[in-house]
Amino acid sequence: MLKAPRGTSDILPQEQAYWDFVERQAASLCQLYGYHRIRTPIFEDYLLFARTAAGGTDIIDKEMYVFADRSGQKLALRAEGTAPVCRAYLEHGMFNLPQPVRLYYIGATFRYERPQAGRYRQHHQFGCEALGDLDPSLDAEVIEIARRFLISLGLPNHSIYINSIGCKDCQPQYVEVLKEHYSRSLKEICADCRVRFARNPLRLLDCKEASCQEIAEAAPRISDYLCQQCRAHFQAVQDYLGALGIGFQLNHRLVRGLDYYTRTVFEIQPQEEGAQSAIVGGGRYDDLIEEIGGKPTPAVGFATGIERIILNLVRQEAAVPPASRPAAFIAFMGGEAKTEAVKLASELRSAGIGIIAAAGDRSLKSQLRQANSVGAAYAIIIGEEEVKARSVVLRDMAANTQETLSLGEVAPALKTATRRST
Ligand code: HAM
Repeated sequence: MLKAPRGTSDILPQEQAYWDFVERQAASLCQLYGYHRIRTPIFEDYLLFARTAAGGTDIIDKEMYVFADRSGQKLALRAEGTAPVCRAYLEHGMFNLPQPVRLYYIGATFRYERPQAGRYRQHHQFGCEALGDLDPSLDAEVIEIARRFLISLGLPNHSIYINSIGCKDCQPQYVEVLKEHYSRSLKEICADCRVRFARNPLRLLDCKEASCQEIAEAAPRISDYLCQQCRAHFQAVQDYLGALGIGFQLNHRLVRGLDYYTRTVFEIQPQEEGAQSAIVGGGRYDDLIEEIGGKPTPAVGFATGIERIILNLVRQEAAVPPASRPAAFIAFMGGEAKTEAVKLASELRSAGIGIIAAAGDRSLKSQLRQANSVGAAYAIIIGEEEVKARSVVLRDMAANTQETLSLGEVAPALKTATRRST
């Protein structure tokens, strides 16, 4: 039997209440902060991702879904949301708008990873990007949005980690010092770190292997090597966070898994034991837009994985608003009654009342069972007599009571009942 590809999953109707809740909170928060939605294609020119995150990151080297289309063009499934937003910003001349341009997205993201809880080959990200301004208050703004998002969902227990990884002026000097530190321990570090040493030394700092911990912990700290501007920027970010009452922890080993970051980087992790994976990741990427052909354009943003958020909601038994239920289920007995049922269902829906109409040729008992299982508050029953009398039986499923109403009375009665129950 065919199955969904490994690392992907169907999001079934019974899970939609979580998804609706999370996506609604994201959209309403973005409205509050003036971020506008953008939807970029699910695949892009391969070069967009290769250029913007190149240089020994796992996402580019091992995890991208790359393919040639029928014309031979090399494409990649969206591996992350930031580079496509930057491409769209340039392609549509958004640099001519008042800056910063604030955008958000919700969409599928693809990475060929080893699937496990919270790590999938297709996942969905909600992300915010503020493009075109270097102001450190924007770094604090996006961190505040991410934090408020988690709190609004009922996930207040998390830790915010921040760091500055400098800019193209000061970072290279730090990388030299870092390499010197590691050059003394090349035999002790893990095989991956030996590759990182050659290709992407900053990533040495966030290695999770036990053998590398001590060496990483003892490494020189980038905060001691930041240039004057980066230092001032990072201090200002911390000051704004302080002014907003947002607690955070400095983590000198936080470097992030994508290569385009400059200055501020941050992650948010759930506080519960053993929760190692970040639910939010982000930072500044002041050189990215220039790398893909634009003028120098500073920017900052974050993204969060919706599956990880929902895992946390389920784990913490957070209450989500239940999915909406139909107001009534229409049952019928006999061919003529069925035509009446089909017509009445359509009329009630036109009046804005949610209706499920029985289908097939089942007994009344079985139709009422179905009314129960779809969660309908009422059943409308039409038999031969009701057809003749132009009436229906309206049955309150919970109270087990029923009354006869004329056809014209059904819509007002259901509307009153729905108003009472909400
Ligand atoms: P990222 O840290 O690679 O950053 O991904 C952002 C979030 O997506 C992670 O914190 C995690 O919640 C979720 N995520 C990542 N990979 C997976 C996976 N395989 N399965 C499930 N969830 C996953 C970015 O992608 C950057 N574009 C974020 C950003 C926006 N930076 C600046 N602006």
